[in-house]
Amino acid sequence: MNQENSSAKVEPRPSRRGVATELHETIFELALNRSFFMPSNEIYGSVSGFYDYGPIGFQIKKNLENMWRKKFLVEEGFLELQSTIVTPEIVLKASGHVEKFTDPVVSCKKCNTKLRADHLVERALNVKWDMKLESIDKLIRDNGLKCPSCKEGELSDAYNTNLMFETGIGADSAHAFLRPETAQGIFTSFPRVFRNHGSKLPMAVGQIGRSFRNEISPRKGLVRMREFTQMELEYFFNPSKIEMEGFDEVKDTKVRMLKRGAEKPEWITGTQMIADGIANQIMTYFIIKEWEYYVDVGLNPDKMWFRHLGENETPHYSQSNVDLEVETSYGVVEISGNAYRTDYDLSQHKKFSGKDLEVFIQDEGKKILPHVVEVSMGVDRLIFCLLEHRFREKSKEKEWEWFDFPPAVAPYEVAVFPLMKKPELREPAREIAVQLRDAGLNTQFSYVGSIGKRYARADEAGIPYAVTIDYDTLEDGTVTIRFRNDGQQERVKKEELAEKLKKYKKEGKFTL
Ligand code: GAP
Repeated sequence: MNQENSSAKVEPRPSRRGVATELHETIFELALNRSFFMPSNEIYGSVSGFYDYGPIGFQIKKNLENMWRKKFLVEEGFLELQSTIVTPEIVLKASGHVEKFTDPVVSCKKCNTKLRADHLVERALNVKWDMKLESIDKLIRDNGLKCPSCKEGELSDAYNTNLMFETGIGADSAHAFLRPETAQGIFTSFPRVFRNHGSKLPMAVGQIGRSFRNEISPRKGLVRMREFTQMELEYFFNPSKIEMEGFDEVKDTKVRMLKRGAEKPEWITGTQMIADGIANQIMTYFIIKEWEYYVDVGLNPDKMWFRHLGENETPHYSQSNVDLEVETSYGVVEISGNAYRTDYDLSQHKKFSGKDLEVFIQDEGKKILPHVVEVSMGVDRLIFCLLEHRFREKSKEKEWEWFDFPPAVAPYEVAVFPLMKKPELREPAREIAVQLRDAGLNTQFSYVGSIGKRYARADEAGIPYAVTIDYDTLEDGTVTIRFRNDGQQERVKKEELAEKLKKYKKEGKFTL
């Protein structure tokens, strides 16, 4: 479920060029100027909710996706597939999206602006909506709320609008939608994948791909988009066997958890999460893996927590939901949802397709419909939160703003620069870049602009190491490593360069 509220406290930011700015405004400006992301089709006047990733942002996105793939699929021996985006109506009727995937809207009777009704009342009155349309109408009437856009117009009664983009297939334009989540493609392919890959439970299948939601009033950049990327994992299991392989190794790991009704998150272990009835062993295992992933990619653990959703917030398909929430300058942003989807999806697809989706359990001698625990993580919101958490202000030592990304997330691990553009330095520098790439380091090569500017650009993109080739390199075969965090430099032999950089990266050494 999409959940943001504006109650989080974030540190005040100093003013920028004399104008007070929020951190997300600074990030947006840097993103535009440094090729992280930009509005799509900008030259035509962009449509809100759509963003392109530029050459720097795309590298970061790819790294985050590959780290997810490694941690959630490869290391576990789970499967990955890629399903289609255009989805026939019947699939989404079965999943409940045609009927229930809606947001409440009110329109202004004067200027005709359409607004997310729950956001409107929550923001204006600082209340939490109880998910009933009538409550919105009552709150609007009792408090005399007017259109926040034209400030005068009366607001209509609230009504539900479906969030899916509609399309038609073929000459007959058979009714279809762009998928609102990647999950359904995994459910519909379940029987074949199960047959082809061992016919045994548990079985887990993941997918990274685009999803589409026709959000009513998308704002907040990457936080609320109409086209975005999800990394989803569906873990199919026998509900009478909820022991998770590998759980013992993580059961004592602590994560921050905001329990139902609690004011503040507390650190709890996996064992306690189960004892408190927040999640079963399988879901707990994935919650802990998620925590590790988010810490590894560089989110600040003091600014994030899991939240056990209240019963009235739990989606229609889920028995229990735990979201990961992150503190940002926009307020609290939900960046992932874990759900115990039970056999809801498979039983619905069984009913609507008429196919037998049950599987035979040898040692029980009977057929069952598998249950599912889902991990659903958004890439774009994660990128936005990372940009905020890893942003560093200008300082006495550094006259430019920069990003403190871990090397695995940074768009490049190392940048190679000839001190000057001259051919006698450029060619040896290019050779060093090739040598580093051959050694497995993600390497950028650039000779455009002054060396000072190139260092600044590398810092602004969060590249942890820069290597400079100068006239001494030609004499004695040494090069300079410049550390991003403090700008200090170390002279090393070029034969030792790759190993040194790999060692520093492993140790997390970003200063001399
Ligand atoms: N299959 C379950 C599902 O889709 P969700 O909570 O609706 O659950 C999961 O979405 C994640 O997808 C969210 O936590 C968020 O990271 C991302 N997401 C959802 N809607 C989004 C939007 N409009 N813009 C950007 N990311 C979004």
